[in-house]
Amino acid sequence: MGKDRSENTVEKILRLKKEKNAIILAHYYQTGDIQDIADFIGDSLALAQRAETNNADIILFAGVKFMAETAKILAPSKKVLLPDIMAGCSLADSCRTEDFEKFISEHPGRTVVSYVNTTAEIKALSDIICTSSNAEQIINSLPADEKIIFAPDRNLGNYVMSKTGRDMIIWNGTCHVHEEFSLEAILKLKKENPEAKIIVHPECELPVRMVADFVGSTSALLKFTKTDPGSSYIVGTEPGIIHQMQKANSAKVFIPAPPRDSTCGCSECNFMKLITLEKIYRTLDAETPEIVLNNELMDRARLPIKRMLEISEKLGL
Ligand code: 13P
Ligand code: SF4
Repeated sequence: MGKDRSENTVEKILRLKKEKNAIILAHYYQTGDIQDIADFIGDSLALAQRAETNNADIILFAGVKFMAETAKILAPSKKVLLPDIMAGCSLADSCRTEDFEKFISEHPGRTVVSYVNTTAEIKALSDIICTSSNAEQIINSLPADEKIIFAPDRNLGNYVMSKTGRDMIIWNGTCHVHEEFSLEAILKLKKENPEAKIIVHPECELPVRMVADFVGSTSALLKFTKTDPGSSYIVGTEPGIIHQMQKANSAKVFIPAPPRDSTCGCSECNFMKLITLEKIYRTLDAETPEIVLNNELMDRARLPIKRMLEISEKLGL
């Protein structure tokens, strides 16, 4: 089918996807209009799994750079496009290669477990990768006497350490979105909505996790709201997830947890929100920006990611 001048952006994207045998993988933190045109929406684990198992020639990643890099590492023969190359991650940025190499050398003999929210270089320095939906199981899959380095999220690391009781040294990184949730504002909201359950991502700080009725990855939070008999929820993660929560539970009420500074809008991930429908169209059309990584780096980074995927598959995650 040729180009039609009256096509809107969504129609143009759908046409290009078909013409180019491309798929769009979108994270739950993308805006609703992007989630609605994606071939697959998921958390970081599900997106990595889907990047590996599809027949497309092109993957357009509606998410952030570390996620697109993970897709490229798992599917090196495919063209992986990221509509805005500036879509980074404050957490991944908090762990620089030289600093992490030094950290590892200062704590010899420890198994290095890194969260998927890291650069390809950090993954290549790691023994195994985890995501927020399998971190506890990945740590538990290691021999009980194994000492661990966990990077880069200190909140997820502390949460998993308290769950597993393992000997862990934790990198001091945080996500600017999740560390900004205000305990006081959440408790005020709870007072105004006493029936609402507080549900939060493990990247939130301990005081916020402590008042939560449920802590889980984005997909775990979504699942919880589908199966829980409650009628309203205060959601302590990036509010993009509320699009799927609301779609699955039209009668339930979802209230975004407020950040410390109510004027800053920082409960939205400004990196995730760099992706727009217009940029997706332009990127699919021009086939750029493309994720390009050195083969040797990809080979080294693939091993710890594959280890995680094998364990997740065995455990049915
Ligand atoms: P998920 O693993 O839940 O997808 O979270 C990714 C992320 O970037 C959280 O901030
Ligand atoms: Fe990174 Fe935080 Fe954005 Fe997730 S929400 S992509 S951890 S900056």
